[in-house]
Amino acid sequence: MKWSEGVQAILKQFYVEDSVLMKISEDMQAEFALGLERGSPASSVAMLPSYVPQLPDGTETGKYVAIDLSGKNLRLVLLTLVGKGVEPEVITHNYMVHESVMKGTGEQLFNFIVNCLQKFLSELNLLDANLPVGFVFSYPCELHSIRSARLLWWTKGFDIKDCLQKDVVLLLEHALEMNNSIKARIKAVMNDTVGQLAAAAYKYGPECCVAVVIGYGCNSSYLEETAKIKKFNASKADYNHKHMVIVTEWEEFGAQGELDCILTPFDREIDAASVHKGKQIVDKVTGALYLGELVRRILAQLVIDGLLFGAQPCERLDQPDSFPAKYISEILRDDESTSFKNSRRICDELEVPNHGSSDYVIIREICHVVSQRSASIVAAAITALLKHMGRDRVKIGVGGALIQFHPTYHQLLEEKLSALAPDGVEWKIVAADEGSAQGAALIAAVADKIQL
Ligand code: GLC
Repeated sequence: MKWSEGVQAILKQFYVEDSVLMKISEDMQAEFALGLERGSPASSVAMLPSYVPQLPDGTETGKYVAIDLSGKNLRLVLLTLVGKGVEPEVITHNYMVHESVMKGTGEQLFNFIVNCLQKFLSELNLLDANLPVGFVFSYPCELHSIRSARLLWWTKGFDIKDCLQKDVVLLLEHALEMNNSIKARIKAVMNDTVGQLAAAAYKYGPECCVAVVIGYGCNSSYLEETAKIKKFNASKADYNHKHMVIVTEWEEFGAQGELDCILTPFDREIDAASVHKGKQIVDKVTGALYLGELVRRILAQLVIDGLLFGAQPCERLDQPDSFPAKYISEILRDDESTSFKNSRRICDELEVPNHGSSDYVIIREICHVVSQRSASIVAAAITALLKHMGRDRVKIGVGGALIQFHPTYHQLLEEKLSALAPDGVEWKIVAADEGSAQGAALIAAVADKIQL
């Protein structure tokens, strides 16, 4: 396809050379090492201990609950495990977290969670059961044990100031006590990447020792040797295990300008308008909370430049957040053979006054380059982790809201990783679509089994 000069100029900004990705990857690898030595703020990548010593191996049995707060969605799960080789039974319920709760008070947030849990368990007749709960809290936390997590800072649009530096397990337990009708008890608290790692390891076996979440934000966890976590005093913490899952929090990489060379004026606008300016740059160039907004800003610019929609103004496109990331997947599923059905519908939903095939091909290409850049950055980050770990064979469990329904992301990621990954490492990307919630219930089962 021959693009007009104006379109070409915009597309070009989103292409990142492999040599640049390699440099990003090397810088990130150095931050991983520094993060294990001294941690934040010495390193932009926090490398947070999770206190999870091992992953599920299929021998776990029983009923477990998961509470998963991963962005705008609260997911509750009841997982019934009957033993090796038998598919677990999963009952899931999702609840929307309202914008006012995301920026309200801690009391509102934890009461909301507990009220949803009460409804969920009472429908299953399990209010009185002493069920172990795995709690996924997918924001950067410093853990003091597997049941104690101090919130360091919010990400992904949450901003509840009175929770900062508090133990979110205590806040949840307090709300449970006040409610006084639920017998279930918190067994483990974890980042969503840890939940996803457990779910992926359960499915794909012990070679699966890395998980990457590409959801509203983007982050990873992996199984590390305890001896290599130099900042962690195992004997002081009474931790007698050879391994521990580490949560990289690689979304913070770039806070010292390491990603400036790839940022476009659109990225800078998004950062400037975000709740946490100058932070979580990786989230902002990869995650579902920001990619739709990125496409919207590019399209709005193309309209101003007279290159889209017959240059007729479109008010909806000028409104922040009018273009959710799911539009990207829908548009990328379109082509001439589908008569651009989805693109046509989306343009109608956006109340674009005048649109046709020549617009749809441009929009699709914008969605493609934005996705490709996201996958390239994630591939650079995975490469850094593979080098850091130094294992010969690694399965990488990849999941999250952005890629789950995206038609080309897996392929884009695999292609870029083939170009960047270190020689001699046999790696494989595997789909971790079960998500963090099921994994959290599995971690609760592991914690129960080995009596953590
Ligand atoms: C953001 C959070 C991180 C989480 C990721 C994926 O980057 O800071 O903790 O794991 O989103 O949800």
